[in-house]
Amino acid sequence: MGYIKSAALEETGFVVLDPYDREIDPKEWLDIEYVDWKSSGDTRFAPLASAFGEIECNGFWNHTPPRTDKDGVWIPSQVEKAPTLTERAQEPGANVGRCRIIELQPNTYADCLYNLHQDDNNRLNPDGTGWVVRGFFNLTDDKDSFFVLRENRTDPSVEYRIALPAGAQLIIDTQRLWHAATHRGDEPRYCLITSWESGSELDAYIAKYNGKPTTDYVEVAQDELEAGQAEQARRDAARAAYYAAKGKAAVQAMSEA
Ligand SMILES: [Fe+2]
Repeated sequence: MGYIKSAALEETGFVVLDPYDREIDPKEWLDIEYVDWKSSGDTRFAPLASAFGEIECNGFWNHTPPRTDKDGVWIPSQVEKAPTLTERAQEPGANVGRCRIIELQPNTYADCLYNLHQDDNNRLNPDGTGWVVRGFFNLTDDKDSFFVLRENRTDPSVEYRIALPAGAQLIIDTQRLWHAATHRGDEPRYCLITSWESGSELDAYIAKYNGKPTTDYVEVAQDELEAGQAEQARRDAARAAYYAAKGKAAVQAMSEA
């Protein structure tokens, strides 16, 4: 049968919406509760909706009973402090799974390439229902920062670099595209991330805000692109060697036992 997906995301796996043009009091993301949660880079997360309304960020499939990334439970103590952000996450009217604010410390393009990952948004998602994609609303005005999106983690031939000023709004199929942010600056970046179920509500929302699959891409100097690519390969090799050595040690320990 297959999943219900948005035609708007078919070409590239993402759309950029018209920017959000209203001011939001930074207290909405600064005064809520964060938990340490390792994602790509040096991060913390503040959940607005979680599996059972607790302040935690685990995948819904890691709870009992396990379920897919839908029907998130809003957390009253967090929602109360972030009413505008909650409203924005609910505006499409699509089913919401996880909804949280990410705090990302500054990093480099090379870090970002190493951090590229795919999300596991559709684990346990029943066939025939809506595919889960993610909304990214940049909150801080990170004029020199950008999202990096690739079809293949180590292949630079398809790479979209999307600017992240305050108000930037993207919807990304993060299970299809490898993604991470390059955050240049000296303050943390804050971004609201919402899991939405694809379907007519999300399609109408994308249309309302003129979601387009392509936009202007951020320019990065050729030498920085090449250095980043080389650094990603170097760190990948170092990680592989580390795990290979660890694996050998584990095998040896087993044979000695
Ligand atoms: Fe992700």
